[in-house]
Amino acid sequence: KETVVSGIRSTGKLHLGNYYGAVKNFVQMQSEYNCYFFIADLHSLTTHPTPADLHGNIKHVLVEYLASGIDPENSTIYIQSDVPEIAELYLYLNMNAYMGELERSTSFKDKVRANPDNVNAGLLTYPVLMAADILIHKATKVPVGKDQEQHLEMARTFGNRFNRLYNTEYFPEPYAFSYSDKLVKVPGLDGKGKMGKSEGEANAVYLSDDPETIRKKVMRAVSDGGPTEENQPKPEPIQNLFDLMKVVSSVDTHAHFEELYNKMQIRYGDFKKQLAEDMIIATAPMRERIQDIAKDDSYLRQVAKHGALKARESAQKTIREVRSLIGFKSF
Ligand code: TYM
Repeated sequence: KETVVSGIRSTGKLHLGNYYGAVKNFVQMQSEYNCYFFIADLHSLTTHPTPADLHGNIKHVLVEYLASGIDPENSTIYIQSDVPEIAELYLYLNMNAYMGELERSTSFKDKVRANPDNVNAGLLTYPVLMAADILIHKATKVPVGKDQEQHLEMARTFGNRFNRLYNTEYFPEPYAFSYSDKLVKVPGLDGKGKMGKSEGEANAVYLSDDPETIRKKVMRAVSDGGPTEENQPKPEPIQNLFDLMKVVSSVDTHAHFEELYNKMQIRYGDFKKQLAEDMIIATAPMRERIQDIAKDDSYLRQVAKHGALKARESAQKTIREVRSLIGFKSF
């Protein structure tokens, strides 16, 4: 069985982008592959969360993994900071990661632009930590959304560089994976691009949002005055809403509104209502389970502990072998 690794940062509740870009694939992959799904709490330290916020957000991700159908008997679910071997591999990989390539990473440049006062070394070497996450289990498939594609390319670079330096074929090449033919990019509701946690509350629909909240967010989503001629190309905010509909609604519903748009008969009120109802239906099973699972701290503790044990077993094996390849040997 091929090995799969993926993670989500503990920066808040999961939204539809996280679900359709990542978690939905996790759930489907667990019966087919040897799966490791983790909570990237070390990665979330770049923004200096308070201990209370960090702890709460780790819990959100764990609860929502379970509520989405990741089965702790089938997959290894763990918290990144419970596996210190990852930090050790990160240190080794850092020796062969170069300033120039790290500075050129798109996500680094975006973060520098968004937050020029907090350009810390952890942010710069973020892709190295991510490579360590993946290589620690020698994974080959990494289910992620479109925004992570460049990070996967960097993970291959760092793995290959290690192999070349030590004249080995130790690390296999990991590739981004999705069951759909392309990696998914779920747009947000602000008319401007992808759904994200940092783009503002109203831009994202969370798995835990109640139906009324979802209706309000969708009805307020950016649109325009409607098409002014038949078969007109869609401006970005409208295209984004259609893309969202493609993700949550049936093929027929999407085609129906597509036709209305092309004939200039679309009413955005009806269109948004349908989109909101389909989002409510798509998230309903998870919304209910989130509340129940969140109450059961002893179950959560047990899942995290069991996962950490399994993840460490795999990670310790890799670290033992990597240390020996590097030349750390006992006398
Ligand atoms: P993060 O925490 O930002 O997002 C978690 C996952 O959700 C996907 N995603 C989206 N997919 C489609 N459309 C969107 N609007 C959208 N927003 C988020 C992301 O692509 C990701 O799959 N660096 C990673 C976390 C990470 C990781 C790893 C992933 C750390 N180590 C090792 C895989 C393997 C991140 O920040 O994802």
